[in-house]
This record gives sequence, C-alpha cells and structure tokens, in this order.
Amino acid sequence: MHRRGFLAAGLATVLASSRALAQTKMDDMSMPGMGGHAGHDMAAMAQDAVILPEGQVLRDLPMLANEADRPGLFRARLTAEPAIARFAEGRDTPILAYNGMSPGPLIEAFEGDRVEITFANRIDSEASTIHWHGMPVPADQDGNPMDPVAAGTERVYAFELPEGSAGSYWYHPHPHGKTAEQVYRGLAGAFVVKAKADPIPAEYGDTVLVFTDLRLAADGSIPSNSMSDLMNGRVGDHVLVNGQKNPRLSVAKGARRRLRLYNATNARFLKLAFDGATMTVIGSDGGLLAAPVAADEILLSPGERIELVASFDRPGPVILYTLGYDRGWMGPGRPADAGLTLLTVDVSESEAEAVPQLPARLRPIAQLAAPVLSRRLVLTETMAMNSTGMEMGFLINGKAFDMGRVDFVTRAGEIELWEIVNQADMDHPFHVHGTQFQVIEHERDGAVSKPPYLAWKDTVNVARGETVRLLLRQDRPGQRMYHCHILEHEQLGMMGVLDVMS
Ligand code: C2O
Ligand code: CU
Ligand code: CU
Repeated sequence: MHRRGFLAAGLATVLASSRALAQTKMDDMSMPGMGGHAGHDMAAMAQDAVILPEGQVLRDLPMLANEADRPGLFRARLTAEPAIARFAEGRDTPILAYNGMSPGPLIEAFEGDRVEITFANRIDSEASTIHWHGMPVPADQDGNPMDPVAAGTERVYAFELPEGSAGSYWYHPHPHGKTAEQVYRGLAGAFVVKAKADPIPAEYGDTVLVFTDLRLAADGSIPSNSMSDLMNGRVGDHVLVNGQKNPRLSVAKGARRRLRLYNATNARFLKLAFDGATMTVIGSDGGLLAAPVAADEILLSPGERIELVASFDRPGPVILYTLGYDRGWMGPGRPADAGLTLLTVDVSESEAEAVPQLPARLRPIAQLAAPVLSRRLVLTETMAMNSTGMEMGFLINGKAFDMGRVDFVTRAGEIELWEIVNQADMDHPFHVHGTQFQVIEHERDGAVSKPPYLAWKDTVNVARGETVRLLLRQDRPGQRMYHCHILEHEQLGMMGVLDVMS
C-alpha cells in the first residue's frame, strides 16, 4: 500500500479502537465514530462555532519590568502558571501563561547587560524550563530538558549579553516530552536585545509581532494533540498576532515601520506578503543583515524570525496576508494556508513627516572561515504499528532523541560544516541551540544554490528532499540541543545532543 494510504488507514484503526484516551476525547467532542483526520476536522467544525473578534487596535506587548537597582543589569521574575483567557465572546479558555499573559511579556535588554531572571514554575504537576531561543547563553542557563524546573519550584537564569548580540530572540519552555504542549497552551514570548548604537532610524519605531496559532474547541478550551497533530505538527485554526486576530494598525502615508516578525507557532509555515506596502528585509534570527534586501514575500518557518522595514506609501487599507506553501502533509486534513489576513494597516491620506532613509550598510558580517570538519545529519520519518497503536518516529541519523546520549562532540571555537539532509516527506525547520550559524548553500536534485544574503540564523527550513549546508561555531562549553522546530517532531525524536568541550 502507498505510504500515505497506509497512514490514513492506520490512523482510522487507532481512533476506532477502544483505547480509553482516544475514546474519551471523541466522546467529549460528541462525535463518536469519526475516523482518520479527526483532529483537524473537529477543530474546523468547532471553528464555525467559535468566532474571534477581528479589527481591534494592535496592542503593544506588555514589557517585562526591569527591577534592577543599577544600570547594566536586567533583573525580573517570570512565572509560568495556568490562567484563563477570553479569545471568543462568552467563552473561557484555560491556557498557560507567563506572568498571566500569552504571549508572555516582551523582554527588552541591551548588549552588554547582565540578565538575571527568576523563573517560578506554577504549572500543575509538570516540569518546565525556560529556553532562550537563539541567545548566546551558557549551556547550564539555557533551559535544556536535562535541567528541569520541577512544578512548584523556582530557579534563576543568569547570563551576559555580549557586544554584537543585538537581535530578535524568544523564550519558551523546553521540558522533556512537554515542550509542544506547553507552547501551544500559551507559553512563548519575545526577547529583544537592543544594540547600543542602532543604524535603523528611530523614526521607524520598533514593533514586535509574535505569531501564534490557536485552536479552540466549541466550549472555548484548547484541545489536546490528535494523531494528525503529532505527525504533521499542530496547526491551529486562528493565527494570532500578539494574541489578537487580524488586529489594526494606523500609520500616516509615507511612514516606514520597523517590524520584528516571530513565528512562535508549533508547526505553521507562514509565507507572508504585504498587499499595498513594500518590504525590505533588514535582519534575521540573530540580528541585522550586512545590507537591506528588498523582498516581495517571506517564508517564515516555525521558530524563525525576520526584521523588516515596511514602507506605506499608498493610502488605504494594507494587509499582511499568507500565501500558500506546501510543506508536506501526511494524511487528510491539510489546513488551508493561503489567504489568511494576519494584520490590517490603515494608511491615512495625510502625509507622514519626512523620515531618514535606511542606511545602505547596516553592520559588517564576516563569512565564517573554512571548517575543520564536516558532519552529516540525515532527517527521516518512520512509522510502525504496535500494541497501543500507530507510532511515528522522527529521526536524525536513524536515531530518536535520547537525553542520556551524546550524539556529537565538538570543540569550542572550531568552525564546522553541517550538512542537513532531509530524506523525509515533510519540511523540517532545523534549529541549533547556543549559537548563530551561517547558511552557505541549498542543494536539491543536484542543483546547488546560494542563499540570497549572508545572515546569522539559528533556525533554517530544510525542505523535503533538500540538503542545507551551514557553517557553525559553538563558543561556550556544555551540552547543546539541535532539533526540528516543529515541536511535535522534536517530541517524537527529531532532536540530538551536541557536547561542546572547552
Ligand atoms: Cu526554540 Cu530547542 O528551541
Ligand atoms: Cu532554541
Ligand atoms: Cu520536523
């Protein structure tokens, strides 16, 4: 039988069997007997009943207040705990929140600062951690699954932000086996490291846009992951911007805005374009590019960030919307991904005050030198039936993640070439902790192409059948994770451990 056919049949078997968990979920939804693509269809039906308000004024994310008593120190507390959100009229949604909000508060600190954040885990009987995605923090401060913070306890994360580290980072939990769920229930926030001297004109502002992906059942609750979610990664029904659906932003004609776009969804690929504004890419995951690059559309895979300058030169409504992108989908129920309006910008007739031009050079980026060695990481997907149902596996070099195993040993300061080979049927956004890397080429069907610009990145999409080569250097000793940032794939094994020796 063809692989996809087998898969769908296998799913139907699992859901139709009398497994207590599957049965309970179906009874809850009062839709017994649904087979196959249950997860997504149930959600789609629920979506008919649950309408989220649109067109509210875009809110700025509340900032995490700095409680330090001296300059150069950022000190604060983050508490993860259950909370109730109100996404839809008349319905309470139990979520997980940082300091009562989702997305969590925006953290803003400066290059050269020391950061001390006390993390309190008040999630009911679940360990958690805070991982500082993309940030150059010591391994033992990076919220690895090996360093869980037990429910009801707290710990301090402390690190320095080196010079040159300005960029658009984020934070989210990383506990063993629970990352995907804690994130889709609401735990994720943006961490912006500001440059002391920033070449982007202050008149452009600095707006953080965090994309998350919400699925609501008819009663307002967030359903658990279905089999389809585990395979494909969880795609929700409502893409939210800073927690709001299609919010509105008003600008004057001629305005330029600096936007930091975050894909904080578990598994939704966002191919984005503006209708009515022009985009210039100025930064990637790890800060500014060497020079601005004009773009018509942008593919932001789960975990990635991009910095843009949007120019609003024409009055009237301008939308930020999604284009279709086929990232590979197993079984039925592929969600519609094209034509979603994420943000509406009202551009007024009145002219903005003249603003400075973008500089032609933003900062120097030196290409990493010749690697001392190269590694090959092959991504595959497997599936097997066992006594409890279908088991999907997402593997790197034939192995599923094992917290007690070191997959690679490297030396701090040495440049390596990593070749990520996707031999699977889905795209996998590949992420490495603890450093920023440089993508040097993509290869597909024997054709090699260079990326359009040199950039510092911590997450790169490796499309189905593609090989991505990158140069990477770890500067701090300790264990680092690398994994697919479709969080369900990370959970099902597509993760490894790199041990960096000093
Ligand atoms: Cu945002 Cu290990 O990841
Ligand atoms: Cu990370
Ligand atoms: Cu993946």
